[in-house]
Amino acid sequence: MEPISRRRALLLGGLGVAGTVAGGSGMAWTMSSSPGPVSGAELMQPPEERSVDGQLQVRLEAAPGPLLLAGRQIAALGYNGRIPGPTLRLQAGDVLRITLVNNLDQATNLHVHGLHVSPAGNGDNVFLSVEPGSSFDYEYRLPRDHPPGVYWYHPHRHGLVADQVFAGLFGAIIVEDPHVIEASVDRVLVVSDVTLDGLGNIPAVPPMARMMGREGELILVNGQSHPQFSARPGQRERWRVINACVARYLRLRLDGQDLQLLGLDSGRFQEPQTVNELLLAPGNRADLLVNTTVGESVLRSSYQSRGTMPGMMGPGRGPRFPTEGRDGVELATLHVSGEAVPSPTALPAQQAPADLRSSSVSARRQFVLATGMGMGGGVMRFTINGREFSETRTDTTVAMGDAEEWTLINTGPMDHPFHLHVWPMQIIEEYGQAKQAAVWQDVVNVPANGRVKVRVAFKDFRGRSAYHCHILDHEDLGMMGAIEVR
Ligand code: C2O
Ligand code: CU
Ligand code: CU
Repeated sequence: MEPISRRRALLLGGLGVAGTVAGGSGMAWTMSSSPGPVSGAELMQPPEERSVDGQLQVRLEAAPGPLLLAGRQIAALGYNGRIPGPTLRLQAGDVLRITLVNNLDQATNLHVHGLHVSPAGNGDNVFLSVEPGSSFDYEYRLPRDHPPGVYWYHPHRHGLVADQVFAGLFGAIIVEDPHVIEASVDRVLVVSDVTLDGLGNIPAVPPMARMMGREGELILVNGQSHPQFSARPGQRERWRVINACVARYLRLRLDGQDLQLLGLDSGRFQEPQTVNELLLAPGNRADLLVNTTVGESVLRSSYQSRGTMPGMMGPGRGPRFPTEGRDGVELATLHVSGEAVPSPTALPAQQAPADLRSSSVSARRQFVLATGMGMGGGVMRFTINGREFSETRTDTTVAMGDAEEWTLINTGPMDHPFHLHVWPMQIIEEYGQAKQAAVWQDVVNVPANGRVKVRVAFKDFRGRSAYHCHILDHEDLGMMGAIEVR
C-alpha cells in the first residue's frame, strides 16, 4: 500500500496548480460535499467498430448525458453515451458510412480529422450543419493508398467547436497497417482536458480563457483521471496517442521506457525514431511503439510554453500558458513487472514517404496568422491574412493536381497550431531550419513571431474545405479560412 500522501499527490498532480491550494478558492468541489475525480482506475479502451469486407457503417448519436468522466457522472456531451466515442478501425480502400444523430440542443456536424477523403457533398464537408433533432448520413471513401495511422473525429460547426469538443465529443479513427506490426497490445490513448465544478457540470468559459485558448484543470486519458495499466517486460506495445485538448500542448515523456515513434498524424517515417519526448500540439497524433522494461513509468506532460497574451500588459508580460507549473502533469502510470516475454518479430519495412522538396511548385502563398484589437477596441480579433472566417467567402482557390508552397507566418506573441483539412502538409522549414527528412503532418505549430514553410500536393479530390488554428477557441473566434480545390 502506498502512503495516503502519495496517492493524494497523484490525484493533485492531475488537477494542476489550482487543485493544490487546499481550502483555496480554485476548485469548487473542495468546498462542496461533491467529491473530486476518481483517479488511479484501470485504463479502459473505448469500444471498437471494425470494417468488414471494405465497409463500416456506424451510428454516432451526439447527446448530453450524465456521462462517465473522470470516474464520476458528469453533465457532459458524448457520442453513443460515452467519452471518447467508439474507435473506428479501417483499412485503406474502405468506405466508411456514419449516420450522425444530433440529440444536442444546438447544431453540430462531423469532421474526420486527417483522413484524405473528399470534402464535397456528404463527405468530409464541414460547411454542413446538422440541426438539433435531425440526422445526417456521411460517406467517406478512403483511397486504396490511404496512409495508415492515427486519425480522429470531432464536431466542426463553426462557433461551437471548442465547446462541443471540450464537453466530450471526440473519438479515434485508426487506419490499419498494410503489413501487420506485431505488438502485444494496441492501445488508444485519447488525451483531453476539462474543467468540472462541484456539481459535476462543465462551467461556462470566460471570454479571456477563450482568447487564450481554454485549458481544462483535469487532463484525462480516455476520459479517465490518471489511469493505470500494466505490462510484462520485453513487450512491444502500440500506443495511439491523440491530443484532443482544445488548446493544451502536450510535451509527453515516459521515463524508464524505450519509445519509438512510427509517425505523427498521417506521416509515417521510413525508420521509426527513438524519442525521449514528444510534442503534440492540439489535433496532433502520435503512433508509438513502447518497448517495455521493468519498473513503474509515469506518462507525464511537461511544461510547454505557448507564448503570452497580446497587448494588455505590454509585450511578453501577459499571462503565460499553460497554467500548470514547470513540473507538468501526470497522465497515467504504466507498471511493468513479471517474467520477460520473448522479443517480438522485426518491424516490417515501411514505405518511404513522398517528398516534395525537389519538385516544382505551381504557386507560393503566405498565410499571416494575427491577433489584434478590433476597431472599437476591447474585442480581440483572430485573423488569417487580415480576415475573420466567413462561411460564404472562399479565401484560397487551388487547381486540382497542383503542388504549392505555403509560408505560415505568425505575427503575434502566442503560438498557433495550423491545420489543413484533407491534404497533408510536408514540413519544409521550421524554426528557421530546412527539414533534413520528409516529414508530413496535418497540424504544425507556428510559434509566436515565427514562421513555417510547408508544401502541399492538392491531389485526388476537388471541393471546398478549410484551414485553421487548431486551438479550437481561436478557430471559433475566426482564425480559419475556406479553400476550394477546382
Ligand atoms: Cu481537428 Cu478542422 O479540425
Ligand atoms: Cu481537421
Ligand atoms: Cu491560435
